[in-house]
Amino acid sequence: MNIAVIGASGFVGYAVTKEALEKNHHVKAIYRRNSIPEHQNLEQFKMTIFDQEQFKQVIKDVDVVISAYNPGYYHVDQKSRYLDAYEVIFNTVKALNKRIIVVIGATTLIQYDGELVKHGFYPKPWLHALEGPDAVFEKYRFDKSINVTWVSPAAELIDGNKTMNYRYDTDHLIYDQNFESRISVQDLAHAIILEAESPKYEKMRFTIAY
Ligand SMILES: NC(=O)c1ccc[n+]([C@@H]2O[C@H](COP(=O)([O-])OP(=O)(O)OC[C@H]3O[C@@H](n4cnc5c(N)ncnc54)[C@H](OP(=O)(O)O)[C@@H]3O)[C@@H](O)[C@H]2O)c1
Repeated sequence: MNIAVIGASGFVGYAVTKEALEKNHHVKAIYRRNSIPEHQNLEQFKMTIFDQEQFKQVIKDVDVVISAYNPGYYHVDQKSRYLDAYEVIFNTVKALNKRIIVVIGATTLIQYDGELVKHGFYPKPWLHALEGPDAVFEKYRFDKSINVTWVSPAAELIDGNKTMNYRYDTDHLIYDQNFESRISVQDLAHAIILEAESPKYEKMRFTIAY
């Protein structure tokens, strides 16, 4: 497949890029500053998605777009920046009739007592850092004109190993027997590429955890 990854130099985006390349997909990597190791099936685009014309050119021939966009956890106006970015991203994929997989946070998942995870699980500084993806999800979650799959990782996303042994849900946080909600970025990337290859959650959200 031809896959575009927005934020391919970031924590999530690079894991997704590596997983896609391991499975012999062709990747168009979009990021602003930090380049990533070269590979014969990788094309790198050091650019901003806010250059909508260039963005459109880059993604026009891909089968699916995967977004791990993040303007930075400490961006001065993170929430507005996220909203502005996804306006460009969604308008472009809609105009080109593309499918998109978007990585957000876990804060909008529902926890064991029916409350949202953000009302129980996270310390306040983290909540601030996750306002952007939350706002994007709230704005577009019922917009069926976009062929989007939302991906919420477990509450804790770690740099670990690819186990390929994890569970799925749609809107509920998944815990293990110790009441911990955790997933490695390698397994998250594995699930995202599986979804790209064989869509099961179009116009829906999925979450994974051990
Ligand atoms: N990290 C976690 O533990 C975690 C947990 C749960 C959910 N998430 C979610 O996963 C998503 C990705 O987060 P992350 O931690 O992987 O972020 P990250 O490491 O900060 O990476 C963000 C990526 O976006 C790129 N980018 C930023 N502005 C751009 C622009 N205007 N045009 C093109 N590319 C741009 C960055 O490029 P440069 O760096 O090259 O400038 C970088 O490649 C976010 O929605 C986040 O909420 C992350």
